[in-house]
Amino acid sequence: MAYKVTIESSNHTFEVNEGQTILDAALANDIILPYSCRAGACLSCKGKVVSGEYESGLGTTNLIPEEERAEGACLFCETKPRSDLTIQTQIVKLASAIQVKKLPVRVTEMEKKADDVMVVKLQTPSSDTFLYEAGQYIEFILKDGSRRAYSLATRPIEKAPIELHIRHMKGGLFTDHVFGTGNTAMKVKEILRIEGPLGSFFLRKESDKPIILLASGTGFAPIKAIVEEIIESGILRPVSLYWGGRRPADIYMMDLCKEWDDRLPHFTFIPVVSDALPEDNWQGRTGFVHQAVLDDIADLSAYQVYACGAPIVISSARKAYAQAGLPAEEFYADSFTSAADLVHQEQNK
Ligand SMILES: Cc1cc2nc3c(=O)[nH]c(=O)nc-3n(C[C@H](O)[C@H](O)[C@H](O)COP(=O)(O)OP(=O)(O)OC[C@H]3O[C@@H](n4cnc5c(N)ncnc54)[C@H](O)[C@@H]3O)c2cc1C
Ligand code: FES
Repeated sequence: MAYKVTIESSNHTFEVNEGQTILDAALANDIILPYSCRAGACLSCKGKVVSGEYESGLGTTNLIPEEERAEGACLFCETKPRSDLTIQTQIVKLASAIQVKKLPVRVTEMEKKADDVMVVKLQTPSSDTFLYEAGQYIEFILKDGSRRAYSLATRPIEKAPIELHIRHMKGGLFTDHVFGTGNTAMKVKEILRIEGPLGSFFLRKESDKPIILLASGTGFAPIKAIVEEIIESGILRPVSLYWGGRRPADIYMMDLCKEWDDRLPHFTFIPVVSDALPEDNWQGRTGFVHQAVLDDIADLSAYQVYACGAPIVISSARKAYAQAGLPAEEFYADSFTSAADLVHQEQNK
């Protein structure tokens, strides 16, 4: 049994098989809707069912207020039709040259940039081209079939290794391996399997609005790729990069950002530290990074925001920036949700 889904604004239609989510079916039909975690944890895929019957999941119940749910708001990454549907959502893109592929990759370099941050470089097969938009992410497909998502930290350069910035989450299946010691630890030459590119977090080049880039911790990875793309494409829109961490060491590529700030007249870098210790001798901005943006710019109505990193930073920014006038469709985000967030959601049900 398949159901027909119609996107109200554009009249695009696609079929959803029994048991398939609206997001998965759209992607399978080369219609890219906004998404990030694909697990009902980040709100990126939130949309509205205008007519028809459907079944949504735990993320919709936990993250969307009841009044909005009553009007049909739901997360398309977990919503399954029970009849033909008409939905409201943005189409990010229709089919392009970029194809999602499963590929083997080889670890070529591992460099610790902070106690809990590893920059890992991976070589894709020379026989295959791996195209992506700066800002997108890949997933590792682990031996047990589970997946872990990591943002691509460089703009796409044909045949060059891809770069990831991986933060150690103690007790985590994959990052304990990356940061491990002994026989089971990740090593140069290790072969892994990835799928990608994924996600709708990339620079909207058609806009001329000033850009705010908001990064927390390793959320800097896709932001770095986007800045490289801005530089390479000669885009001269004003760009303000706010990068937050608990301590200065969390802003692990501070020198690169300062170099961009020195070199590019339209680029400003504002590092923000929330829990500096006296020995850090931190002289810069303090507090929460999403709040620093609001301290500088009270009215966000004319801006575009690209936010990436810890889920709490992304959800706080989404709420506060909407109140500061940022149109919902100008907030682009990748929230680094993990198994811990899903467990938390399960416990809240
Ligand atoms: C779109 C996207 C992009 C991302 N990009 C990046 C990136 O560029 N860089 C980056 O560092 N991260 C990124 N992440 C996060 C990343 O995918 C992983 O979630 C993270 O690295 C943890 O993986 P892990 O296997 O080590 O931990 P997991 O095994 O997933 O565990 C995560 C944490 O939860 C705890 N945990 C696990 N199971 C339970 C349980 N049952 N009860 C309680 N606690 C539990 C673990 O101890 C650990 O601390 C991204 C996430 C998304 C969704
Ligand atoms: S909640 Fe659906 S993509 Fe994250």
